[in-house]
Amino acid sequence: MRTEITELLGIEYPIVQGGMAWVAEYHLAAAVSNAGGLGLIGAGGAPAEWVRDQIKKAKELTDKPFGVNIMLMNPEADAIAKVVAEEGVKVVTTGAGNPEKYMAMWKEAGVKVIPVVASVALAKRMERCGADALVAEGCEAGGHIGENTTMVLVPQIVDAVSIPVIAAGGIADGRGIAAAFMLGARGVQMGTNFVVTDECQVHENYKKCIIKARDIDSRVTGRSTGHPVRALRNKMTREYLRLEQEGASFEELEKLTLGGLRKAVVDGDVENGSVMAGQIAGMVKEECTCKELIERLVKETDALIKGAGFYE
Ligand SMILES: Cc1cc2nc3c(=O)[nH]c(=O)nc-3n(C[C@H](O)[C@H](O)[C@H](O)COP(=O)(O)O)c2cc1C
Repeated sequence: MRTEITELLGIEYPIVQGGMAWVAEYHLAAAVSNAGGLGLIGAGGAPAEWVRDQIKKAKELTDKPFGVNIMLMNPEADAIAKVVAEEGVKVVTTGAGNPEKYMAMWKEAGVKVIPVVASVALAKRMERCGADALVAEGCEAGGHIGENTTMVLVPQIVDAVSIPVIAAGGIADGRGIAAAFMLGARGVQMGTNFVVTDECQVHENYKKCIIKARDIDSRVTGRSTGHPVRALRNKMTREYLRLEQEGASFEELEKLTLGGLRKAVVDGDVENGSVMAGQIAGMVKEECTCKELIERLVKETDALIKGAGFYE
């Protein structure tokens, strides 16, 4: 499965574990990288020194490349950007903003920069400011989402830029990976699937919710405020959507979700917390190790790509 992405990142398989706030800490990132993919530590809203500590711990568990995902809205984004360069992290993915001001520092430190984008316009802007590759994330994904589905977003971004594209959102198995390749992607990023692995440290209740979920069990809150988020339906999403329909203010809605992901991930409160997960939750049936998951994905994709046999 050699592609421009495996070459660029020095990894075995073009499979990236998405940076996930509260969820993607060093155990998960190191396990994915050890299994031949690219693991990411999700900095989320955490302080810079927490990120440094996570990087150090990941290095103790793996000598393979791994990365850090930075939410650029984090008040400590400047400090985290510096930590990434100082600690010799190989890859950084960015969300919720423009990483342009860090580009020179990262390039000098040899960091590969991969912004996450949900539109063609942003994809072009990121290429112009020096990105090495892009993650094109469709709205099937868990967490903060854009407007387009992966199916329509990926080919449009592939056509608009000349750097390699990694498809994200709604990819659960070899069929999804093969489909992403057909759309022009050279790699995939998955989040929801990796939540339900042995090495992922989220509360058991969170994993159980994903395993139990059916195709229709995710909801998007926050469309009215311009900050849509996909999570599994529970008491919080019901209440949020009711308030949204009633025209509640941004502040009122914020109160419902403040600290919601932490509540679900750390405390296991999957009724009042935010159980962020993508539409593929309905396809995740059991927990396994990152190595087992990646080996299965590679086997399934290989079988489809090499012996497709759709027609004679
Ligand atoms: C619980 C959760 C938290 C996430 N947090 C982040 C984040 O902090 N930064 C980011 O760029 N993407 C975040 N994402 C998106 C993932 O990195 C990934 O792109 C997405 O999950 C892919 O779609 P999938 O869920 O269908 O696999 C999050 C996703 C989930 C499920």
